[in-house]
Amino acid sequence: MKISVIGAGMVGTDIVSYLFNVGNFSEIVLVDINNEKSYAEIMDFRHTQSLFYTKNTKLNYGTYKDCKDSDIVIITAGIQVKKGDTRESIAAANSKITVEIVKELEKYTPNSILILVTNPVDVVTYFAIKHSKFPAHKVMSSGTLLDTSRLTYYLSTKFDIDPKNINAYVFGEHGKTCFIPWSLCNIFGVNIDTFTKINNFPSINKKEVEKYVVDSGFDIFLKKGNTNHGIAASIYRIVRAITVNEKSILPVGLYVNNIYDINDIVLALPAIISKNGIEKILKVELNEAEKEKLRDSADFLKKIINTVKI
Ligand code: 2OP
Repeated sequence: MKISVIGAGMVGTDIVSYLFNVGNFSEIVLVDINNEKSYAEIMDFRHTQSLFYTKNTKLNYGTYKDCKDSDIVIITAGIQVKKGDTRESIAAANSKITVEIVKELEKYTPNSILILVTNPVDVVTYFAIKHSKFPAHKVMSSGTLLDTSRLTYYLSTKFDIDPKNINAYVFGEHGKTCFIPWSLCNIFGVNIDTFTKINNFPSINKKEVEKYVVDSGFDIFLKKGNTNHGIAASIYRIVRAITVNEKSILPVGLYVNNIYDINDIVLALPAIISKNGIEKILKVELNEAEKEKLRDSADFLKKIINTVKI
């Protein structure tokens, strides 16, 4: 399988590292507007390959034409949000950059599945779908997968339980309007509130948990200038679901029409991810308050989308 990564920044190179070190792909291509950067990153990776790895993955750098016939293209390129700004402050610039990229990719690898990472990820994914011929089921974003990972991590510290036994999710925008459908959250199959009560765990402060999920990305960003490990692991998880045809249910960012009275937007909802991309968007039982939060998230994203002129 061939996977291309557009953008050789901290996130893009961390994703290449996951793809090469954890994955098993025939070819990985790294493209950046700065050819020297993609060349240098790939040469650095190749020097790990000669003696220390048995994998003969072809590690290449180049331009869009080198992405030819990629199974998956991961797009991380764009301007970085400045300290003190919000993800939406770069919506116009990064949407334009993303549309330019997908139009180039259309020429050389029209059958790829696209995974968008560039922020604001829901907005740029919307424009990637609207301004390209890639079918919507083959265009997704990291969505709230990283937020969901942060949520399960935080809850695991509160309960001192293996996060793999905690089924908790985040839906909506990858941003401040994302929300946790607490009615769906369970530990070992038991609703989290019931689990807490019948096992005499101290009750959790849901507002504090929600604040942690929304703020933790920026907390890291403010202290080290970006985030990369969490998002790279999230992207690799999506890549694995596609390349192994796992049919995993993941909260990726996807194009929504006529679901929960929401139309023509991209946001994160649970979907079956397979070799075909978004195999099926799943309905879950949200209570009225949760449906309202999802609609609020969609409305917030529409407001940003309406400010962008492509
Ligand atoms: C994150 O949440 C910056 O959106 C990125 O880590």
